[in-house]
Amino acid sequence: MSFTVVEPVAQRLNRSELAVPGSNPKLFPKAAASAADIIFLDLEDAVAPDDKEQARRNIIQALNEVDWRGKTVSVRINGLDTHHMYRDVVDVVEQAGDKLDLIMIPKVGTAADVYALDMLVTQIQTAKRHSNRIGFELIIETALGIMNVDAIAAASKRNESLHFGVADYAASTKARTTGIGGANPDYAVLTDKDVDGNRTVHWGDMWHYPLSRMVVAARAHGLRPIDGPFGDFSDPEGYRSAARRAAVLGCEGKWAIHPNQVALGNEVFSPSEAELAKAKKVLAAMEQATKDGKGAVALDGRLIDIASIRQAEVLVKTAALIEAAN
Ligand code: GLV
Ligand code: MG
Repeated sequence: MSFTVVEPVAQRLNRSELAVPGSNPKLFPKAAASAADIIFLDLEDAVAPDDKEQARRNIIQALNEVDWRGKTVSVRINGLDTHHMYRDVVDVVEQAGDKLDLIMIPKVGTAADVYALDMLVTQIQTAKRHSNRIGFELIIETALGIMNVDAIAAASKRNESLHFGVADYAASTKARTTGIGGANPDYAVLTDKDVDGNRTVHWGDMWHYPLSRMVVAARAHGLRPIDGPFGDFSDPEGYRSAARRAAVLGCEGKWAIHPNQVALGNEVFSPSEAELAKAKKVLAAMEQATKDGKGAVALDGRLIDIASIRQAEVLVKTAALIEAAN
């Protein structure tokens, strides 16, 4: 290990994060009753400009009155480049900040964006004598955000998670695609002819670079990396596949832009029985190895060593967190 020890931020389950438009308050109690780990009430892109003020009032009322059943609740404010943002923060935090766990900041481009929000939220929480500390979820969804992702991740002690906003990222980089997440047939490699003259197409993941970049920055600063939306809510297999490839890179969860994606996120980001059994077997084998004075042993025909303990512990700790929440 480096002499610089990275402490993880507050542990929270974040397997599924359900987006709920602030302009549709009928959905709030349904979201509270869902199985989502985190609910984010949206003031940004799911709310039309003319509905912003009513949505803000709806959210303030709901934070104060809806029984959120112990769920983590977040509010996505508008971007720093809009004139809506300051009122989002001032009104929501002043009037309901003591009921709020997280604020989601969209289109973060520089560390100064986070610093500005931290200053504002801190002043309001101090003036209101709130005893809770509101954490930040930061959406990385622009070319500038990816360029500055390390500094952004380090910009505030309120930071808890980085989220990959694939739709705005595509718009920001002028990617030639209109889907929200998922694969694109144009991002592929055509092989040379094999001995029989056949060529095959291998699809790639056009989001691999920004997602990986964000995961590394998040983990280097103790934050949770979370994958963003998958737009086609009638394609559960497509969602599962996108979620699985995010999970193997290190993401802890994925957004649900429709209630039917919540169960999928929870499923993919929960260790399976088989994975858990394997992890426990690794830990038991390494405990015996330590007693025998060995650093590495063979288990089921494969080498495991002290690094395997750290890998297995990730799974076991996640399972414990899920168990505690049930
Ligand atoms: C989310 O905000 C996205 O732009 O994908
Ligand atoms: Mg976005």
